Amino acid sequence: MRILSGIQPSGKLHIGNYFGAMRQHLQLQADNEGFYFIADYHALTSNPEPALLRRHCLDVAMDYIALGLDTQKTVFWRQSDVPEVTELAWILSCLTPMGLLQRCTSYKDKVSQGLSPNHGLFAYPVLQAADILIFDSNLVPVGADQKQHIEVTRDIAIRCNNAYGEIFVVPEEHILESVAVVPGIDGRKMSKSYDNTIEIFEPETSVKKKVMRVVTDSTPVEAPKDPAVCNVFAMLKLVASPEELGEWEQKYRQGGTGYGAVKKRVAELLMAYFRPYRQKRAELEQDLDFVHNVLADGARRARAVARVTLERARRAAGLGD
Ligand code: ADP
Ligand code: TRP
Repeated sequence: MRILSGIQPSGKLHIGNYFGAMRQHLQLQADNEGFYFIADYHALTSNPEPALLRRHCLDVAMDYIALGLDTQKTVFWRQSDVPEVTELAWILSCLTPMGLLQRCTSYKDKVSQGLSPNHGLFAYPVLQAADILIFDSNLVPVGADQKQHIEVTRDIAIRCNNAYGEIFVVPEEHILESVAVVPGIDGRKMSKSYDNTIEIFEPETSVKKKVMRVVTDSTPVEAPKDPAVCNVFAMLKLVASPEELGEWEQKYRQGGTGYGAVKKRVAELLMAYFRPYRQKRAELEQDLDFVHNVLADGARRARAVARVTLERARRAAGLGD
């Protein structure tokens, strides 16, 4: 089965990205043909500073490789190194009704937040459809926020197949709904845009400080507490064994345990979880040539597949000879 997913290079990756998406990507690569990429064309819709965009791509690449991306087996590349997707996006655009894109909530959300939208942001789902269709992807593991984009992709694929014959594989979505939203230190969803993240590889001292700052309610130490509404408990769930989680749950319910004690344990477990990968992450930082080579090799392998599908679409649409 060919599994494809993309992640935007909008900063250093955080534990919400890891537990919400990357962990599943890394698990799925063993029994499948993994195609994972860094979506820098998509990131361009928010007009990042050019040097920063380039740097963020490298950061994402190093994070994935350090955490166990199999660079031999899995195809891993930077989106803009396979420019064929933009040509396919154009072909798809011409069969995409305006109404389909006007209904997309991520675009409407950005506009309602007061962001002055550019055409790239509006056309974002078409480029995402091109990403998926150009690699004949069967399954696209994404968070619930991306569900609509996969539906749009399926819709576009079906329209193209109706217009031009069976040129595209219609992908299945694979919503990672079982994954709870990881809270940030302010209790909102952990997100780069809220500045409330704990980065996977930030220094341990800083991880600890941030966990100690996670927002909790003001229930006194002696009083019983409800684990279901506690941000610290939500983090504990990510890293504690089921037995240990059960013990903490009991402590919450019986009272007598302060949030400080739980936070300390969460910090310890989080640090221990990512410690085995820190060394590798630091080594990669010293060997950027290796990282560039992985991406170049990935782009070469991805391009070979993309060219075949693009040619199929061009012929079907009446482009070229
Ligand atoms: P951010 O909100 O920090 O910009 P992205 O939107 O780039 O993160 O998310 C990249 C991937 O990580 C998506 O698949 C998304 O579902 C997942 N993800 C991001 N934040 C969280 C979170 N707090 N909890 C669970 N998953 C998350
Ligand atoms: N839009 C996705 C996100 O913000 C990233 C993405 C771009 C993607 N192209 C994709 C995800 C193709 C899956 C498949 O998370």
